[in-house]
Amino acid sequence: MIGTDIHRAVQLLRDGKLVGIPTETVYGLAGNALDEWAVTQIFEVKGRPAFNPLILHVAHTEQLANYAKVIPEPLWKLVKSFMPGPLTILVEKKDIVPDIVTAGSHRVAIRVPAHPVSRMLLNHLDFPLAAPSANPFGYISPTSARHVENQLGDKIPYILDGGECTIGLESSIVGMEGDKLIVYRKGGLAVEDIEAVAGPVEVKVHSSSNPEAPGMLSAHYAPGKPLLLGNIPALIQTHKEKHFAVISFKTHYVTGKEVPQFALSPSADLHEAARNLFRVMREIDELPVDIILAEYLPEEGLGRAINDRLTRASTPMQQDTLV
Ligand code: TXA
Ligand code: MG
Repeated sequence: MIGTDIHRAVQLLRDGKLVGIPTETVYGLAGNALDEWAVTQIFEVKGRPAFNPLILHVAHTEQLANYAKVIPEPLWKLVKSFMPGPLTILVEKKDIVPDIVTAGSHRVAIRVPAHPVSRMLLNHLDFPLAAPSANPFGYISPTSARHVENQLGDKIPYILDGGECTIGLESSIVGMEGDKLIVYRKGGLAVEDIEAVAGPVEVKVHSSSNPEAPGMLSAHYAPGKPLLLGNIPALIQTHKEKHFAVISFKTHYVTGKEVPQFALSPSADLHEAARNLFRVMREIDELPVDIILAEYLPEEGLGRAINDRLTRASTPMQQDTLV
């Protein structure tokens, strides 16, 4: 059930139940992170393998120290600049964080969401929330309460509605190896913004062949239909006999027939494109088309994270040639 009753959500979470929650990035499937039974339910409802760890959500940056042993200075700089916001830090965990949350790892991922509803919710709780994106494992992350309802509505008692996500991409995950800053997931905070505050970073985006950040499986954001990525006019030429839909950055293409086309941002604004991407992928999944043709966005700012998601959504055969 979808609603806006924060007190109901608070009560359910205190009772060890799961609630769909809005954040500015994507919707989360939240439960009490310190309650192993609730965390087990998260894995079960999402159909997520137990080796794939969860992000801890807290209300204030002051609470980070309750769960992190230390926060190295370069990460502190990022915390001060970008939290609350679309940033997750990966740090050494304190014992209070159950091993099931981190899938046995000594590091925990933590973020402070900026969405007013999730902040208000967290302020009412005396425990952190574990929350993966509220989609079945392997599918596109939800950016509205309705998306959550469509796929998990019969498995969870309540979904807190906070409107459409303003960022629309998952948080950027940043940690350290030695004294180097590493971006493990390109997300709603642009790599350039991170570097402007903390200096050069290494981007280590993982795939199924690299188990260090097991969540970044290569087909993690897959829609139900094959997605081909490249030069759209050329793809149209090759696939003109098929029923296809087009995802472009800003322009509609000449197709020679009626075709559903989605320009992510007619004004070429990468933030707007990010906001629209997952909704558009879901809408196309509902259409009577066999195949999705898409193009890369400019490889800068949020375009880098968008291109990452498009690549992961593309057909495995094509991924091999892109990796
Ligand atoms: O924006 C977001 O981060 C959203 C909202 C709901 O907060 N959450 C989200 O969670 O995207 P999830 O579970 O779908 O993705 C979390 C990613 C996974 O790829 C996981 O492998 C990685 O974070 N992660 C979490 N804890 C980790 C850990 N201890 N070590 C390495 N990677 C970790
Ligand atoms: Mg996810």
